[in-house]
Amino acid sequence: MSFTADRLLLFGATGDLAQRMLLPSLCALHDDKLISPELRIIGTARSDYDDDSYRAFARQALEKYLPDFRKSAIDSFLPRLSYQTLDANDASHFVDLSDEIGTIDKGMAIFLSTAPSLFEPTIAGLTQAGLTGDKVRIGLEKPLGTNLESSREINDAVAKAFPEDRIFRIDHYLGKETVQNLLALRFANIMFEPLWNAAHIDHVQITIAETVGLESRVAYYDGAGALRDMVQNHMLQLLALVAMEPPANYDATAIRDEKVKVLRALRLVEPGETVTGQYRKGAIDGKPVPGYDEELGHDSDTETFVAIKAHLDNWRWKGVPFYLRTGKRLPERMTEIVVNFRRVPHSIFASRGALTQPNALVIGIQPEENIQLQLMAKVPGLDREGIRLRSVPLDITMPDAFAGPKKRIAYERLLLDLIEGDQTLFVRRDEVEAQWDWIDDIRASWAEHGIKPKGYPAGTWGPSAAIALAERDGVTWNE
Ligand code: BG6
Repeated sequence: MSFTADRLLLFGATGDLAQRMLLPSLCALHDDKLISPELRIIGTARSDYDDDSYRAFARQALEKYLPDFRKSAIDSFLPRLSYQTLDANDASHFVDLSDEIGTIDKGMAIFLSTAPSLFEPTIAGLTQAGLTGDKVRIGLEKPLGTNLESSREINDAVAKAFPEDRIFRIDHYLGKETVQNLLALRFANIMFEPLWNAAHIDHVQITIAETVGLESRVAYYDGAGALRDMVQNHMLQLLALVAMEPPANYDATAIRDEKVKVLRALRLVEPGETVTGQYRKGAIDGKPVPGYDEELGHDSDTETFVAIKAHLDNWRWKGVPFYLRTGKRLPERMTEIVVNFRRVPHSIFASRGALTQPNALVIGIQPEENIQLQLMAKVPGLDREGIRLRSVPLDITMPDAFAGPKKRIAYERLLLDLIEGDQTLFVRRDEVEAQWDWIDDIRASWAEHGIKPKGYPAGTWGPSAAIALAERDGVTWNE
């Protein structure tokens, strides 16, 4: 049902995500008048606050994470906020919450980010308090389980109260402008689609590199590891957008139908097709940083790096490897997709001594937002000693090409879509389950073959085996 909610209920309202992303995003949307003046935001969490002390808490977060924002904008945003303390295991607290929220006739959007163990009691509490009717939709933040089975349990618990068309599973990578631009690049230009297949593409690389370490998420991260924290969601969503068939329309069903087909075509990975690593002490930007175990305070077998050679068993991608890698404490923060084309079938320049390099399309997602097409060009000159060719970039820097529009946080887009009810950039249940299915098989194979992460010094591109994973196929990671 289409409605624009005039209540937004934020679970985890005192958490890290709320401080860094949700409150700043909502404040920015407020300032740009993109949310209706009627929208009330009700925060809830275990911590003891009242409306005033929560507004003070929110102000601190906004001043920290939106340092350049006008004070007057923050002042005018804060009155939208109110707060209700809640212990999800105590049903009576949901009655108080319902009183605080008041009427939800016009519609309510819930943003739920909570420990997996609290999903069931939270959904039960919301149901008992009458907070799950036709005019309520729910956004779910990760982690949504730790494997297929636990993800199904969460999905089943939520499905008892909400039909799929009112469930919005968040993958914040889909809120990133450059990720959405992948669709424009592929489907608003005529020149890529005819080449976008195994006949013309040699391989694809997707890298999500981070310089940060554990940050303040010790308990969660050590139980997750890079495969479940990054590959299961963000990396596979990027892969699905790169590899999917053209959807008939830009709408939630058409796009998600095509993505899920890709996710279901992922082939079981062989043991030699993955490399895992864990950072040891090293240096980032010239500054010494401790190893993972030291940060954690005890030994651990959790991987902070993973590289995978993935395959899609379908017509379009038969024989085209997708090299995926992600890790913490790598030399730079960089998310990038590289589509490497095949060589020209016959080089007319060979007889003149010139070498041709294959073309590559490099899509920079962050921090650089750019699109680069590597093309062969002739080096200027009279060529008395033979023709020389060189690969040169055709380069679009997005912030230069679109200097006007304001840069937005991914969550601004996602919160607005949640409030207004557009599911296109949210993940459907069948996608999440296909993702877990593939990830669970990889983890089972690690367990079966006793695969443990190899150490790599912080500030390097992971264990050397990750380089070998690509190089034994004659492929070099783009760095
Ligand atoms: C989160 C992961 O989903 O994404 C974090 O849990 C990771 O471990 C983060 O740091 C990366 O997001 P971004 O937007 O900074 O690339």
